[in-house]
Amino acid sequence: MNRIATPEQRQVFLSKADFLPRVQLDERAVSDLEMIAIGGFSPLTGFMNQEDYDQVVTEMRLANGLAWSIPITLSVTEEVANSLKEDSLIRLDNSAGEYIGVLQLTQKYHYDKTHEAVNVYRTNDAKHPGVQVLYSQGSVNLAGDVWLLHRDPHPLFPKYQIDPVESRQLFRAKSWKTIVGFQTRNPIHRAHEYIQKSALEIVDGLFLHPLVGATKGDDIPADVRMRCYEILLDKYYPKDRVILAINPSAMRYAGPREAIFHALIRKNYGCTHFIVGRDHAGVGNYYGTYDAQHIFEEFKPEELGIVPMMFEHAFYCMRTKQMATSKTSPSTPEERIHLSGTKVREMLRRGELPPPEFSRPEVAAELARAMQVPVET
Ligand code: ADX
Repeated sequence: MNRIATPEQRQVFLSKADFLPRVQLDERAVSDLEMIAIGGFSPLTGFMNQEDYDQVVTEMRLANGLAWSIPITLSVTEEVANSLKEDSLIRLDNSAGEYIGVLQLTQKYHYDKTHEAVNVYRTNDAKHPGVQVLYSQGSVNLAGDVWLLHRDPHPLFPKYQIDPVESRQLFRAKSWKTIVGFQTRNPIHRAHEYIQKSALEIVDGLFLHPLVGATKGDDIPADVRMRCYEILLDKYYPKDRVILAINPSAMRYAGPREAIFHALIRKNYGCTHFIVGRDHAGVGNYYGTYDAQHIFEEFKPEELGIVPMMFEHAFYCMRTKQMATSKTSPSTPEERIHLSGTKVREMLRRGELPPPEFSRPEVAAELARAMQVPVET
């Protein structure tokens, strides 16, 4: 799908700029608009109507039966909704009030937030970061096709802004037949490196696709994470087997449902395989360690069109002195070093560097520098 306005469409839309009713998008809606426009959310061409929404929430399918696990909706307050007419064009602005897109409004509908929370996030706890966003948004969804007015270079990572059409071309140019996609929202650590390289032993290329859209406040900022990737790729990865690109979408923290969503996005970028490790896209204790793997059983392989590569919880094994999982290591629990992204953030805040069994030293140093912690070495 390509929903970027053609020069002719743009001219028409710009000429109407002062006459169209406006809706202001939050950060997540801006990134959803961008993802729809560049084909990252293909087959979606706009924000979901009620039929698609209902079917996605209850069945993980669009109304036409295609697999889709996360609602992509544009929610506004009752007051804003009342001011808009169905079957009209709406001007979409970003938070700075800039005109960035157009919605062909075809439907306005109310939706049940608790029902969405329980089905999509498996909890109605308002403390869950995805549910928190859901509960704070407007009570009416606006549906319809969208156009993005301009595809501007990313302000922070223009070099890594590779849209689906480009990544597919790149894979072809490299003659890669099998490509594994990797989703991440955390600074890269050795368990990530281990599962990426284990996957790369099987396929032709690795598509490193860190998410740089909205994340919860205490996640490490995207620019820091991208620098960690650059540092690591430079020294520890084969240059001709890896492509680093940004994923502009926002995190939902929907665990299992988001693993399916993340896989579908990477299929759109041209990947044939997708890594799903421990507690993929999880947060707190809302999901079981391997729930995000089990959910793939609810789809036929041809429905998803991308093959999940599942990995057990990886750790550093002190007995064999290498990264491993319980499938490959004879160690006892006491001989295993496993840290999580959360634990590393806490260590850095206390002024401690994550150990080399967890983070490559160059990455640990960059994290400490970026977070301005007075680290003891
Ligand atoms: S996520 O929210 O984007 O999933 P994160 O960046 O931590 O968070 O994880 C990226 C991918 O690596 C996910 O597939 C996750 O399951 C996997 N992963 C993270 N840590 C481990 C680990 N210790 N062992 C196995 N897989 C892991």
